[in-house]
Amino acid sequence: SAPQVRTPTGVRAHDDQGVNAQQGEWLTTSGGVRLRETDKSLKAGERGPTLLQDHHLREKITHFDHERIPERVVHARGAGAHGTFVAYGGAESVTSAGFLAEGRETPVFVRFSTVLGSRGSADTVRDTRGFATKFYTDEGNFDLVGNNMPVFFIQDGIKFPDIIHAGKPHPDREIPQAQSAHDTFWDFVSLHTEAQHHTIWNMSDRGLSRSYRMMEGFGVHTFRLVNAAGETSLAKFHWKPKLGVHGLLWEEAQMLGGFDPDFHRRDLADAIEAGAHPEWELGIQVFPDTPEQTYAGIDLLDPTKLVPEEVAPVQKIGRMVLDRNPSNFFAETEQIAFHVGNLVPGIDVTDDALLQARLFSYVDTQLTRLGGPNFNQIPVNRPHAPVNDMLRDGFHQDAVHRGVAPYHPNSLDAGCPFLAGDPQGAFRDNPVTVPETVKQRAQSASFDDHFSQARLFWLSMTPVEKQHIIAAYSFELGKVYEPAIRERQLQCLANIAAELCGGVAAALGLPAPSPTVELADPEPSPALSMLGGSYPPD
Ligand code: HEM
Repeated sequence: SAPQVRTPTGVRAHDDQGVNAQQGEWLTTSGGVRLRETDKSLKAGERGPTLLQDHHLREKITHFDHERIPERVVHARGAGAHGTFVAYGGAESVTSAGFLAEGRETPVFVRFSTVLGSRGSADTVRDTRGFATKFYTDEGNFDLVGNNMPVFFIQDGIKFPDIIHAGKPHPDREIPQAQSAHDTFWDFVSLHTEAQHHTIWNMSDRGLSRSYRMMEGFGVHTFRLVNAAGETSLAKFHWKPKLGVHGLLWEEAQMLGGFDPDFHRRDLADAIEAGAHPEWELGIQVFPDTPEQTYAGIDLLDPTKLVPEEVAPVQKIGRMVLDRNPSNFFAETEQIAFHVGNLVPGIDVTDDALLQARLFSYVDTQLTRLGGPNFNQIPVNRPHAPVNDMLRDGFHQDAVHRGVAPYHPNSLDAGCPFLAGDPQGAFRDNPVTVPETVKQRAQSASFDDHFSQARLFWLSMTPVEKQHIIAAYSFELGKVYEPAIRERQLQCLANIAAELCGGVAAALGLPAPSPTVELADPEPSPALSMLGGSYPPD
């Protein structure tokens, strides 16, 4: 029989693996009544109509009718795996997060994904990839919900529906590669030029990952770390794959899309099953928490900018190994609910306007996707730390709570130790200074520079990587119907690099425009390059 798990405020009727719905040797109804027949429905007479009275028929069909849940509005296509994170130590001076203390082992679940495709889409398309990790720490769940690229298309989350609407298939035909979707994507990124930096990453070999096992991961935003003394620093998170960073050739990606649309999903599961457990090191770039929140002239609240690793080296603070495939895709990979607001003491958010919108969005969408407010009780989302919350009832409530309905302050219910215990272990919102005026968007000049870092990226590429980037822009813009959009994007490329713009213009048979911004020549950043990258395999 299913073991009962006692929580401080309730009893759950099953263990951490979830309800065991496959007990005993007989087929039963969901109510546990043994069944004699499941192949023929009950009829009136030998050839008559089916009777509504057949409760097993009704239950079987009704449940089947409701097997599907909505796919994620973005990142619908993904694959996941379980593993363990072990901290090297070294982060204690900047964060009190217990799971980052030397030698601490923490179970994790990682979900990799594409962004734009639907649940059944092909794995090898040109896209950004999600790299989301749930750490089941002793202090509660910490989610690092990142991507395989260090920057994002937009500086403010209010533009998220715009970029996704511009990139996803359109309502008339729902064809991802339709003319209209190319036009709208390039229309948006050429008008909203802060998207140009992320776009050049997409057009590079990084947009065609060879394997989930060979991707870097980035938290993208700047986070605020708090140490045991209450001192704060700013930090960016990085995952470095042991196998190095590798991309597919465009032709390989296209062929694989036809031959094996499950290529990445299969690769991850096969590698884990074969014992070739993928590994990453977690690293942080740490910056002083100054009032300006800038470093080397780069605004740390601008998620369209990275801080080059030569300027702020990545310090390795731990290692993650994925060694167990999910046993049930729906229960684990599909029902996992990541949220950038799942933070533990020692890690806090900043005022990055993209991050702030994400803090609202994830739980909001999961209320619909996972059918109500109790999705943290689904086994894959359940913290491994004790839970004693004030949340009650609601759809899919799984806990049987005891005592009076929770309220605070409370002198009657000794079983509700609200706010008791060691305040040191509690999450504390870090005091920050906010301006007294309400403005739509206050930003430094660094936010308005949309091309320098795209140029830095271009200059860091090897000749063959540059060829791939020119070919990618040429192919994609070749699918754009509206001449004005192509020309506007060529203008953006002219503002990144003459060689890039010239190559694409020649392929499109168009004149190459002159830049409208001054092209500064930063030092090439070899750490960005995939082929000449600074993290080759061991
Ligand atoms: C899902 C990353 C920006 C809304 C995801 C996932 C990842 C991700 C990895 C997939 C999670 C999974 O595997 O279940 C990022 C990154 C961003 C970003 C790195 C920027 C730096 C945003 C913004 C919004 C947003 C600005 C909205 C304002 C969503 C939503 C989902 C999602 C609604 C689906 C969640 C679900 O259904 O469980 N994101 N995202 N994201 N993201 Fe983002």
